[in-house]
Amino acid sequence: MNKENKELLFYLLLFILGLLLRLYKTINIELEISLRIFRYLIPITTINLIIYWLIKEKRGKQIPNNFSCIKLEINKEGINDIKDIGERWEILINKIVNMIPNFMFIVKVGKSKHVNHEDIGYDLTLWLWGGKNNDKKAYEIKAITEAIIPQFNARILDKKQSVEELRKIIMFKQPSGKGKIQAVKKVLNLPIAAKRNTVFLRGIKFSMPMPRAQGLKIGYVWPGNKNLPVRVALTDFLSHIAIFGRTGSGKSTTAKRIITNLWLRGIPSLILDYHNEYRDVIVPLGGEVFTPGVEISPLTINPLKVRGGIDVDEHIDFLIGIFEDTYSLTQPQCYMLSKALKNLYTMFDPEKTEPTLRDLIDCVKNLKEHSVSEYEIKKALLRRIEMLTKGQLGRILNSESVWDLERILDRPVSIELAHLRNDEHRNFLSYIILKLLYDYRVKKKSETLVHATVIEEAEKIIRKKPEGQISIGERVVSELRKFGEAFIIISQSPLNLPRNIIINTATKIIHTIGATSDARLLQGQLNLNKEQCSILLSLPHSCALLKLKDQPEAYPIKIEPPKRTIKVNDLLLRSLRREIWGSIS
Ligand SMILES: Nc1ncnc2c1ncn2[C@@H]1O[C@H](COP(=O)(O)OP(=O)(O)OP(=O)(O)O)[C@@H](O)[C@H]1O
Ligand SMILES: [Mg+2]
Repeated sequence: MNKENKELLFYLLLFILGLLLRLYKTINIELEISLRIFRYLIPITTINLIIYWLIKEKRGKQIPNNFSCIKLEINKEGINDIKDIGERWEILINKIVNMIPNFMFIVKVGKSKHVNHEDIGYDLTLWLWGGKNNDKKAYEIKAITEAIIPQFNARILDKKQSVEELRKIIMFKQPSGKGKIQAVKKVLNLPIAAKRNTVFLRGIKFSMPMPRAQGLKIGYVWPGNKNLPVRVALTDFLSHIAIFGRTGSGKSTTAKRIITNLWLRGIPSLILDYHNEYRDVIVPLGGEVFTPGVEISPLTINPLKVRGGIDVDEHIDFLIGIFEDTYSLTQPQCYMLSKALKNLYTMFDPEKTEPTLRDLIDCVKNLKEHSVSEYEIKKALLRRIEMLTKGQLGRILNSESVWDLERILDRPVSIELAHLRNDEHRNFLSYIILKLLYDYRVKKKSETLVHATVIEEAEKIIRKKPEGQISIGERVVSELRKFGEAFIIISQSPLNLPRNIIINTATKIIHTIGATSDARLLQGQLNLNKEQCSILLSLPHSCALLKLKDQPEAYPIKIEPPKRTIKVNDLLLRSLRREIWGSIS
């Protein structure tokens, strides 16, 4: 018997007891005094019953019917490692959430009766609403779930059962937990009390809205209850994340935590690792680390290769922008480079051949100079391009591309750049990688989050330019948000980045900042008062202020470093991803 029926039975029994006692009283008058206490039993239980039915009716009417509901159950018997299955299944569900645009959230109803595991319950109900063809999507989810993890039984509930499930959830506060109840209330359009919590950090008050129930956990509210996790919605990743803080404040550790959790949800990341410090997380995650320019795990990229579907003129424009931003080319140098590139792609049909930097040098050499100044321009330009064909960078750039972009973008990958001799080399290579990413994403197109790129020392590639100009890095970051790519932008000082980047990164994580001027810039962005702002200069270790997209103010959180050993089987994850994405798209 469920909780609701038990309550009903209790009221009925009380009612019957009241009736019996009333009857008894009329027969045996002497008992009157001792029974006075029961005098109100009938009116009380009657009122209770009326209220009960009224609430039930009202709740029932508020439930919309444009939704579908799937109940997923697993029977422990016959399964050796139920926890393992459960973990994989959670990953799968998270993938499904990403695949279906109108899939709003998952309600965890609780542990199944069949499952006795102490940590995880595998009896879940998924709700789809607010979109079209919810029933069709429900069958699609059922098919996917059962195909990948046959141990699961996915049952699509009919409307009556679904309404009953949903009603039970709000009437009996099931599942427990404010976030979930609020989420259910949201479906039913019931008012949600805008509760605010308060935290004090070093005596300074910060207020914060109720943390989100859904999203990627990045830490927990601090100081305070460790059980109050802080989450960033996956959709907010597409408006990018900025992490700021002085050296040693914990920026990379925070980024590591984020990429680890993203990968647990099947979303890979690419790191432009300026200090070669991500290997320790990428390797346990089953990802790959490339060290371009050295013999072990090398990487070769031909910047002149025009990938299928990319317009040659746009490719040329992009390349000129990269040269201009890296080597501060003058306008006449850019013009000459543009002429040489046009000649290059006339000589080499990009659909058939792959010209190399050596070919570009020949094209520049073949340009006729009409004056001494043109000769000087040509010489300066040749010096720049020739640098790219020598030494470490030459080994990376001056050959055919043997870079399988698909493979690099479907797992966590770090590209180590610290060993490259100078910043110009590092920046040039980073730009070329961003360009490849840009071409790939624009071609593939995705509205949901599919991949994240971490840019360390972001000010070097997302350059601040004079008013009215936009750097190549800024262009890539701004445009790719529409194509399923998230950027995690890391810098010591927000002042070094273009203003638009600061304004448009929806999620900001601020560790201890090194300069008052930076703190002042962030004060407005994070909606802090003077006192709160002062703490930015001396936040405790592993603590940061977090500003989420739709929350008005920033508040303090603690970030846990990622665990080194990740239990998820990478091979299975990869094949699952292919299977799911392949079968849907
Ligand atoms: N949340 C955390 N919990 C525990 N230790 C942390 C945390 N964040 C950072 N640390 C430790 O602090 C040290 C510096 O952290 P990290 O390398 O992330 O800083 P950073 O801001 O990236 O520095 P840099 O600007 O020099 O790259 C590391 O030893 C790291 O282990
Ligand atoms: Mg770092």
